[in-house]
Amino acid sequence: MSEPQPVYLSDYQPPAYRVTHAELTFDLDPANTRVEARLTVERHPDAAADAPLYFHGEQLALESVAVDGETLADNAYRHDDRGLTIARVPAAFTLETRVRLAPEDNTALEGLYQSNGMYCTQCEAEGFRRITFYPDRPDVMAVFRVTVIGDAEREPVLLANGNPVERGELEGGRHFVTWEDPHPKPSYLFALVAGDLECVEDSFTTASGRDVTLQIWVEAENLGKTDHALASLKRAMRWDEETYGREYDLDRFMIVAVNDFNMGAMENKGLNIFNSAAVLTHPDTATDAAFQQVEGIVAHEYFHNWSGNRVTCRDWFQLSLKEGFTVFRDQSFTADTNSAALKRIQDVAFFRTAQFAEDAGPTAHPVRPDHYIEITNFYTLTVYEKGAEVVRMLKNLVGWEAFRRGSDLYFARFDGQAVTIEDFVGCMAEASDEDLSQFMRWYHQAGTPEIDAHGEYDYVNAEYRLTLRQRTPVTAGQQAPEPLHIPVRMGLIGTRSGHDLSLTLGGEACGKDTVLDLREAEQTFVFTDVAEAPTPSLLRHFSAPVKLHFPYSREDLAFLLTQDSDGFNRWEASQRLAMLALDDLIAAHRNGVEKVMDTRVIEAYRTLLNAPEEDRAVLAEMLRLPSEACIAEHQPLVDVDAIHAAREFVRQSLGFALRDEFMALYQASQSAEPYAPTPAQIGRRSLKNVALEYLMAIEDEAGIEHCRAQFDAGHNMTDVRQALTLLVHSSRDDLSAPALRAFGEKWAHDPLVMDQWFSIQVSRPQGDVLDRVKYLMEHPAFSLTNPNKVRALLGTFAQNRINFHRLDGAGYALLADTVIELDGLNPEMAAGLLTPLTRWRRFDDTRQALMQAELERINERSLSANVYELVDKALG
Ligand code: PHE
Ligand code: ZN
Repeated sequence: MSEPQPVYLSDYQPPAYRVTHAELTFDLDPANTRVEARLTVERHPDAAADAPLYFHGEQLALESVAVDGETLADNAYRHDDRGLTIARVPAAFTLETRVRLAPEDNTALEGLYQSNGMYCTQCEAEGFRRITFYPDRPDVMAVFRVTVIGDAEREPVLLANGNPVERGELEGGRHFVTWEDPHPKPSYLFALVAGDLECVEDSFTTASGRDVTLQIWVEAENLGKTDHALASLKRAMRWDEETYGREYDLDRFMIVAVNDFNMGAMENKGLNIFNSAAVLTHPDTATDAAFQQVEGIVAHEYFHNWSGNRVTCRDWFQLSLKEGFTVFRDQSFTADTNSAALKRIQDVAFFRTAQFAEDAGPTAHPVRPDHYIEITNFYTLTVYEKGAEVVRMLKNLVGWEAFRRGSDLYFARFDGQAVTIEDFVGCMAEASDEDLSQFMRWYHQAGTPEIDAHGEYDYVNAEYRLTLRQRTPVTAGQQAPEPLHIPVRMGLIGTRSGHDLSLTLGGEACGKDTVLDLREAEQTFVFTDVAEAPTPSLLRHFSAPVKLHFPYSREDLAFLLTQDSDGFNRWEASQRLAMLALDDLIAAHRNGVEKVMDTRVIEAYRTLLNAPEEDRAVLAEMLRLPSEACIAEHQPLVDVDAIHAAREFVRQSLGFALRDEFMALYQASQSAEPYAPTPAQIGRRSLKNVALEYLMAIEDEAGIEHCRAQFDAGHNMTDVRQALTLLVHSSRDDLSAPALRAFGEKWAHDPLVMDQWFSIQVSRPQGDVLDRVKYLMEHPAFSLTNPNKVRALLGTFAQNRINFHRLDGAGYALLADTVIELDGLNPEMAAGLLTPLTRWRRFDDTRQALMQAELERINERSLSANVYELVDKALG
C-alpha cells in the first residue's frame, strides 16, 4: 500500500459537477442493504465541457450506473477504491446508481452502521461516500428526498432529515417512510435512523409563531432519561432567538440516542444523532457534570442549525468556522444560564491542560490547518476550543453589539452557502469598522503564545509602567511566527486599599478594568495618576489563549485570592499559588530533600474557608488543586513521579492542617433536598465533595464514615460517584472492594453507569491498575467496538499518569497493543487512543525510549490513514 498523501488548502478547486437534488432509497438489511441514488447533476459553469465526472465512493458494492436513464456498460466508467469516474457526461443530467452495503460489519461507525440492532448513520466528515457515490464535500449542497424501507416489526421507526411526506406498507412485512428536507444541505448533514425506538415529544413555538414538534428517540428502557435534554433543548432554542435572533426552520426537530458513537453528537439537519452518554440523564445514573455536559452538547448541536447548517464550510480546512463559532455560542449559553465565572473556570482549566499540551506536541496545528492526511484527526481541541477562544477575542475586540451585527450580516449574506473563515471575519470587520488583518494570524499560527509581563511603580510620578513582551514558539512545519493582536484585559488593585484603581492611559480615563491591545513584540503601557502602589490583575477572564508570566510573589497571590474583583482571576490566583508550592515540592522530591509544606498556602486556604466566596461552585474550584496533567504543562520536562508525590503531599498537608474546617464545611453542606441540577445545588455538592476529598486524603476516621454513609445513602449519582471514587482510591482494600462490588452488581444492566464503574477503578493510584485494565477488558460489560467503553477503560487508564507511565513500559505496551487491534475495527478511535503516546518527547529519557519503541512497533504495521498520520508526526 502506498503512503497516504496530504491534501492542501492551497489546492482548493470548486467542484466540476454538483448535485442539486438527491433522491435516495434505502432497502435496509444488516448484511445486504440496497441503496439507490437518483441525482440531478450539473456541470459548474467554469468547468471545461470535457471535464470528467468524479464522485467519491468507498467500500461500496456497485451494481449499476445509468446516465439519463441509460445503463452504462462496464467500460463506460471506472470504479476504484476511492470513487467513480465517468469520462464524458452532459452539462446537466440524471445519474442513477445502485450499490450494496453491510451495516452489520461496519465497526468504524462511519457511514451506515448498526448499533444495538438499530440502523444509524454518521457522515461528517467523509462518511457519506460509504453510503453512495457522491461529491462528498461540503461545498455541494442539495435538496434531499429519502425513502427508507425496513422490516415493520424490527424497524417500526424509520427516520431521516426534514419532514415525513409519505408512508405505507409493502410486501413481506416491510414498510417505508419518505422524508423531504427542503433546505439544501451538504452530504455530511445527511442522516437516517431505523429501529425499535420510542419517543418523548414536546413542542416549541418560535418567536415568529411557528410550532415545532420536538422529539427525543430512545430505546424503551431509556424513556425516563430524556427530561433534562428536552428542557435544555427548549432553553437553547429560546436563547438563540433572544441572543442571536436565530429561529428554527423546520416543523420538527429530532434527537436520537445511540450507544455506539465515535463522538459526542452530530448536528444532522433536523435529526441530531447523539451518543447516549451526551443525552441521557437521571439523578440516579448521571452526575452533575454529566447533566451540565448534556445541556451544553444539546445546545451546541442545536446552534449548529445556523452556524454550520444554514451557513456551512467551503472545505474541511474551514472546520473551525462552524466549530469555533458554535463552541463559543454554547459556552455563552451555559454562562448565561448557569454561573458565568464557574463556566469560564471549568473551560479554562480544561483548555490550558489539554489544548496547551496539543499545541506543544507533534500534532500542533493552526486553528485553520493548511494540510491534512485524514480529516477526522482534525476534530481537535485546537479547532474547537482554541477556535472558540479566537471568536471570543473577536467579540471582545469589536464589542457585543458590533459582533451581533456582524453575525446577522454573516447569516444573511451567506445563507445557503458554503464559506470560509475570511467570510466570517470579514463580516465582523465590516460591522465594526475594525482592521482585523493582524488578528487573522490567530487562524494561521500554531503554538501557544507566551507573554512575559513586568511592572514598575514610580512613586514620585504616581506612574505604573507595564511592559508586555510576546513570543510564539515555532511549531512543526511553521515559519517564523509573527506578533499577534492580543487583547489583555486587566486592572490595577491598590495594594493598601484592596480596591480596583481608576485607570488613566495616554491621558484618557479608562475605568477600573480595561483591555490592552498588544500588537507589537514588545509594548509598554504607562498608567498615570496611580495613587498607590498596585498589584496588577492580568488577563482577566482569560482574555486570550496565552501563557502569561508575571513575577508574582506568594504574598501578591494571597492578596489577589481575596481582593481581585474578577472572580476568574481570584481562582487564577489560587492556582498560581498552589503551583508555586508544587514547584518547590517537585524540586524537593527530585533532589531527595525532605518535603516541607509552605504555610502561606495553608493560611491562604484557611482564609478562603473562613471568609468564603459567595459562589460556592467557584469556591470549590479554588480549593481544588491543579490536576497532575495541568501541573505537567508547567514543567519543562515531565517528572511523573515527582508531580504525583508533590500533589499528594499538598493534598495531605492541607487535609491535616485544615481538617476541622473541611469537616465543618462538609457537614454544613449536607442537604436532603430532592435532586435538581440547579446551579445552587451543584455548587453545594461540589463544595461538599471537595471537602470530603481532603478528609479522605488523610483517611480521617470520621471522614471515612461520612464517605461510606454518602455512598450507602445513594441519594444521587454525583454524591455516590464521588464517595465510590474516594473509597476505591483509598489505600484500604476493606473500603474499596465491597463498594466496588455493590456498585457493579447494582448497575450491571446500565451501560453508561458501567462506564463510570470502569473509569473509577482504573484511575486509582494503586499499583494494581494495569492488571485490572487487562482483567476488565475481558469483562462481559466491556467491548472494544463500543467507543464509550474504550474511552472509559483505556482512555482513562492512559490519563492515570503514574500507572500508565510505569517504568517497565507495560502501560505503553498495553496501549499500543490495543491501538493495533482497534485500528482494524475503528481507525478514528484507534487514533484517539494513541494520542498520549505521541507526547513522548515531554518525558525523561527512559520513558522517551519506551514510548518511542512502541510508536515504532505500531509503525511497522499496515495502518489506517488516521493512525499513520499521527505516528508519522510523532516520530518525525
Ligand atoms: N460536528 C459534531 C459536533 O461538533 C462532531 C462530530 C464530528 C461528530 C465528526 C461526528 C463526527 O458538533
Ligand atoms: Zn460542533
